[in-house]
Amino acid sequence: MNATPDSTSPPSPAAERRAAELRRELRHHEHLYYIENRPEISDQAFDALFHELKELEARHPDLIQPDSPTQRVAGGILDHLPSHQHASPMLSLDSSQEEATLRRFDERVRKALTKASLTKADLAAAVPTSGAGSWVVDPKFDGISVELVYRDGVLERAVTRGDGQRGEGITESVRTIATVPLSLRAGQRPIPALLAVRGEILLTVDGFESLNERLLAAGKEPFANPRNATAGTVRQLDPSIAAERPLEVYVYDILALAPENEEDATTDGPIPLPDGSTLATHQEALAAMRDWGLRVSTLTRVATTVDELLDFHRSIEESRDTLGFEVDGVVIKLDDLAGRQALGSTSHHPRWAFAMKFPPRKEITRVERIFASVGRTGVVTPVALMRPVEIGGVTVSRATLHNREEVARKDVREGDLIRVQRAGDVIPQVVEVLEEEGRERAEPFQMPERCPSCDTPLVERGPFSVCPNSFECSAQLVGRLVHFGSRKALDIEGLGEETAKLLVGEGLVTELPQLFALRAHDLIGYEGFGAISAGKLVEAIESTRRTSLERFLFGLGIPEVGVTVARDLARHFGTFRGVQGADDEALQSVSGVGPRMSEAIRSFFAQPQTAEVLERLMDGIMELQESTPRPSGEAAEDGQEAPLEGKTFVFTGGLERFTRDSAKALVEGLGGRVTGSVSRKTSYVVAGDSPGSKLAKAEKLGVEVLDEAALIALLEAQGAQLPPPEN
Ligand code: IVH
Repeated sequence: MNATPDSTSPPSPAAERRAAELRRELRHHEHLYYIENRPEISDQAFDALFHELKELEARHPDLIQPDSPTQRVAGGILDHLPSHQHASPMLSLDSSQEEATLRRFDERVRKALTKASLTKADLAAAVPTSGAGSWVVDPKFDGISVELVYRDGVLERAVTRGDGQRGEGITESVRTIATVPLSLRAGQRPIPALLAVRGEILLTVDGFESLNERLLAAGKEPFANPRNATAGTVRQLDPSIAAERPLEVYVYDILALAPENEEDATTDGPIPLPDGSTLATHQEALAAMRDWGLRVSTLTRVATTVDELLDFHRSIEESRDTLGFEVDGVVIKLDDLAGRQALGSTSHHPRWAFAMKFPPRKEITRVERIFASVGRTGVVTPVALMRPVEIGGVTVSRATLHNREEVARKDVREGDLIRVQRAGDVIPQVVEVLEEEGRERAEPFQMPERCPSCDTPLVERGPFSVCPNSFECSAQLVGRLVHFGSRKALDIEGLGEETAKLLVGEGLVTELPQLFALRAHDLIGYEGFGAISAGKLVEAIESTRRTSLERFLFGLGIPEVGVTVARDLARHFGTFRGVQGADDEALQSVSGVGPRMSEAIRSFFAQPQTAEVLERLMDGIMELQESTPRPSGEAAEDGQEAPLEGKTFVFTGGLERFTRDSAKALVEGLGGRVTGSVSRKTSYVVAGDSPGSKLAKAEKLGVEVLDEAALIALLEAQGAQLPPPEN
């Protein structure tokens, strides 16, 4: 036991024996600690063994074996990540958030298996619902996918998914992950000559947060979410970076296994093992992987019916915040390996597996600044600039706080930690401020009393503050220019917010018609404008002089007139003069135009300044392709203009900025439907003041609930023209 080898090589047989014993013990305790979660010795006792082995190896470098527990951080900094072919393609997953799609998947698999079993009798047993254990379900880990290859039981390489055929070798970083054994254990099953498994590398939520804290303290950019942080860590060329971060691995599939000769690797169907036995089901494969010392999730369950699958989905979603790592759904897999083989794969995903995703979630971030932004209609909106955060795949850094009352109600202040969500998957909004004990908060945000752009005193309209200086306020002009050039309006390439600010700020454009008088030499020399880019912008503007009446009407930003109404007006009247001169009666004969909208349209055209600008635009600048009048209400040809097509809305409670009818008209104008009762099929329940039982029902059924602010954000994001707030 007491190894005191001298410092010369080769090591004595006693030293060799002791080193082997220490390696065995250390692996055993690592396994108990990391994989089985039931350590038998103290950390100190473990460290003592570890140091003994380190010392022994230092004295006798010949004793060092690549899979020794001391060799996790081995080697230095790489100069590139090598590319490797996968042992078997790493496919993606078919996925959905819809229960109906899951039901169709279940049916499809059952049908295909029944059909297959007509010719292959032994497949009959594989038909789900024909017995217990037909589906195996796991959480869908939101990390990065990895292939681990063990040759003769020793970890040879770890490879990212890459394009599914080849990926990048991240072996050195993955070796540092304590939950990845450097060599397999010979358990009840002998170790195969080749084993390639697939799993997921994750960073715990705690680990992610403390990593971001450290990065911030060092003046570095934090990661947007644990997945990005994981990817950014394992792809580092310096493995010591991964060693410092709390990465974990869960394995969930055997990609390839060769019992004795590599050439005989099984990549599909039942898996023969070296001892002559066979793994026939996924459950057996999981047990084998666990037995070899790999970490397999303990959350995995077996199910036979879709309802059981949905129960599992629900329970994982409910425990989502307490798992300690990110999951974004559940993965459903056929248990029977012969059944899997019979079903096969598309080039993208296996036909035997399905990911049932969770709806996009809320994220936590910090408010960096709150400022008041003046929109093109003069409404002054408080906006929170946040530390960028990824929500359901999109990085967001701004959230609207809507109006004075909303800011006060949510009491969002600079520096606050907030929960944000994307409403209807589009516009980020602040859900709530999180309490932080002991942190001193900034002063409450005050809406300015004067326009931050033109200094005109703001007027209050309900909860909104509005700059009444419509024609001279440069922020409003910037907003109008951006809208005029936006994709669904004139679609002027290069006329974004920055450029519009420059044009207005430098006095190059003081009203809309001047846009068309711009020449390249006016622009050259300003930031971002050389001869080429200046020429391009001028050309883009020039080329949009010929446009359709409907784009032009939409681009004018007439209150309440969104893309759909603009199209209907164009079709109904056919000419610009027709729309401009229409009276209430004529306007209201267009479908979707009620008294309120016709009033808004008429007062827009009646404004003397507007009329003057329009005269100049129509006098030799715009060449409108006016449309042949036809009955309004015909469907758009390309469906592009009905962004809410297929979505159903239910309203409950009172709204502030709309009447029920005008809200309904806006939703319908975008192709959505408004119905009276909530069901699982309802897309959104809009809950205003004192909502009724429909809200409770929505919550029970898991239907997305929007408050008025979220509804506004959703409608605006889809190009609706909302009525300006009124008194
Ligand atoms: S099974 C493709 N099980 O999710 C067939 N995949 O978005 C085998 N993923 O790239 C996959 N958790 O890497 C499976 N429990 C789990 C998973 C899982 C996460 C990954 C998978 C895939 C991605 C698809």
